[in-house]
Amino acid sequence: MTSGGDAPGMNAAIRSVVRACAYYRVSCVGIYRGYEGLIDADFIELTARSVNNIINKGGTILKSARSKEFRTKEGRKIAFENLKEQNIEGLIVIGGDGSFTGAVLFNEEYNFPVIGIPGTIDNDIFGTSHTIGYDTALNTAVEAIDKIRDTASSHNRLFFVEVMGRDAGFIALNAGVGAGAEEILIPEENLGLDRMLESLKKSRRTGKSSSIVVVAEGDKSGKNVYELAKYVEENLPEYDVRVSILGHMQRGGSPSCFDRVLASRLGVKSVELLLDGKTNLMVGLKDNEVISSSILEAIKGGHSINHELLRVSDIMTT
Ligand code: F6P
Repeated sequence: MTSGGDAPGMNAAIRSVVRACAYYRVSCVGIYRGYEGLIDADFIELTARSVNNIINKGGTILKSARSKEFRTKEGRKIAFENLKEQNIEGLIVIGGDGSFTGAVLFNEEYNFPVIGIPGTIDNDIFGTSHTIGYDTALNTAVEAIDKIRDTASSHNRLFFVEVMGRDAGFIALNAGVGAGAEEILIPEENLGLDRMLESLKKSRRTGKSSSIVVVAEGDKSGKNVYELAKYVEENLPEYDVRVSILGHMQRGGSPSCFDRVLASRLGVKSVELLLDGKTNLMVGLKDNEVISSSILEAIKGGHSINHELLRVSDIMTT
C-alpha cells in the first residue's frame, strides 16, 4: 500500500515490490487508498504485468489516504480480519512517519509482519539519508524558484517563496542553497526576524536589487508567509514584496532518476526482508548502501538539519 502524502517515485516502489514478488514466486496484492482500503478490503491482485510503464509516473496507482479510522482499535480489527480473509501474510507500507506509526501499532496488536519503505517528499525519516520523492520535489522546487528569480530580478522585487515541509526544513534548506536564496527559514532553527531584516538591509546596501527568501511551511518564526511579507514591507518600505506558495505541485511530476533507482532498490529489499521472516523494519539508504533499521526508531528518531549547509547559505549571502 501507499499511505499518507503521495510522493514521486511511489509507483516505482510499487513496481519494484510487485516484480520482486513475481521473481520470488509469491503472490502480491495491492491495497488501494492506504489503510482506508485495508479497512474496506479494497484489494487488487498484482502481477508483474500489472505494473508495466509506471516507473516514470508521478502519484500512486494505488492511491493514498490519511486514514482516521485506522487510528481506532475497531478499524484495525476490521483491517486484520480482511488480511486474514485474503490469506495475506505480510504488509509493505510505502509512506512517512504517520503511516509507519499505524504499521507499528498494527504489529503490536496482531503480531502481523510489517515492513516500511520511506516515501515522502519531506525527507524527515530517521534511518535513511533519502526518502523516495524528496529528490524530485527538491528539483521541482529549485526549478520553480529559478523562474521566480527571473521575474523578481526584472521588477527589483523581494519574493517570499513557501515550500512544503510542515515539520522539516530539508526542501527549504537544500532548495534555498541550490536556488541561491538570500535567507532560508526552516522549522528546526528559529534565527529570529531581526536577522532577516539585517540581511535584507545589507543586501540592498551592497547593491542587490532583488532577493528570494525561502520559507518552509512549518517555519517557527511565528508568522506565516504573508505575515512575513507584511512585516518586511512595514520595516523596510524600500522593498516591493511578493509571495509565492509552491504547494502541492512539489508532490507531483515524473520522479527523478535518483528516486526511481532508490525506489527500485528499496522495493526489492522490503520483499526480501518479509520473505526472511523479518518484521518491524524500515528499508533505507545509508552511505549509498541499502540497509534496514527498526521502524520504531524511524518514527521516534527525529531528524537533524545539516548545519554545514546553513553556514554555506550564510556565506553565500555575502
Ligand atoms: O508530508 C508531505 C507533505 O507534503 C508535507 O510537506 C505537507 O505539509 C503535507 O504533506 C500536506 O498534506 P496534505 O496534502 O494532506 O494537505
